[in-house]
Amino acid sequence: MKTYNLALIPGDGIGVDVTDAAMEVLGAAAKGRFAFDTTSFPWSCEYYLEHGRMMPADGIETLRGFDAIYLGAVGWPATVPDSVSLHGLLLPIRKAFNQYANIRPHRLLAGVEGPLKAEGFDILCIRENTEGEYSGAGGRVHEGKDNEVAVETSVFTRAGVERILRFGFEQARSRRGHLTSVTKSNAQKYSMVFWDEVTRELAAEYPDVTVSHMHIDAMAAKMVMAPQDLDVVVASNLFGDILTDLGAAIQGGLGFAASANINPDRSAPSMFEPVHGSAPDIAGKNIANPIAAIWSVAKMLDHLGEAEVSAAVLSAIEAATAKGIGIRPGLNTTDEITAAVIAALEA
Ligand code: IPM
Ligand code: MN
Repeated sequence: MKTYNLALIPGDGIGVDVTDAAMEVLGAAAKGRFAFDTTSFPWSCEYYLEHGRMMPADGIETLRGFDAIYLGAVGWPATVPDSVSLHGLLLPIRKAFNQYANIRPHRLLAGVEGPLKAEGFDILCIRENTEGEYSGAGGRVHEGKDNEVAVETSVFTRAGVERILRFGFEQARSRRGHLTSVTKSNAQKYSMVFWDEVTRELAAEYPDVTVSHMHIDAMAAKMVMAPQDLDVVVASNLFGDILTDLGAAIQGGLGFAASANINPDRSAPSMFEPVHGSAPDIAGKNIANPIAAIWSVAKMLDHLGEAEVSAAVLSAIEAATAKGIGIRPGLNTTDEITAAVIAALEA
């Protein structure tokens, strides 16, 4: 039997609650099909308070040897500023392992009523995950003075833009054949015009994919007014971040939004995490919705080559939601939802 070595970083807040739930489901899904070894790392804001850093200096090298990384959530702003915790753990992992494709599916699960009238949308958002507005290039001068200056520069490289768009075109080809590239090239005349140009160049290689160019503002409206018209959506790091919270909202809430940080060439491990974050206000109360985290397990199984088990996990989630389990905040506990998914898996 195949054994996968998984690194777990439950992190902060409900990251811990939903990682427990996700691993219970993984255990049930694996039975008789494959084995897995998990190594859990306590890297979190609590760890920071004790050690002065979010992970050890050799943290990245430690993670490199695993088949995949599963992360719950990072952030506890009451004790560690988000700009410190995220730049000390989540963001360096995405960059160091070239997890350049952040894939986030947005569709309504069976039984879930979103806030829109629209039904039957199925959007795959592909967010550039290593550069752009999150490049970290910048600085501050004259701090605290009247003439203080803060500069943060977006970085768009040809290699970076080309590879995320190519990834998007491949996904579109394997789905409904439509790609929407999101920029703001009417206002940002260097980086975003460049992105549009690269999109056009690649489009010539994919005559079977139809391409739309949209500006981020119009795209925000479209995701509310006509999400059923969208298939694959490719966006820069910041635009993708914003659109995927909107995507989460239209699919019923952040409790349903899964994500995969993929290194497509497999030169380093990929990382799987729910989109929702650490939600300190509901941490440890057994009320967080674990569905986004469990769906992220399904994405991990897909990446590991366990497509059948992945599909079984997703069907089990939908068997539970179709019965009304976990479809609204506060309706069921974390444990109840997890148990319902496991029952469906074992049925
Ligand atoms: C996400 C999160 C992160 C991001 C934050 C926590 C840095 O919002 O994964 O969407 O912006 O990438
Ligand atoms: Mn986000």
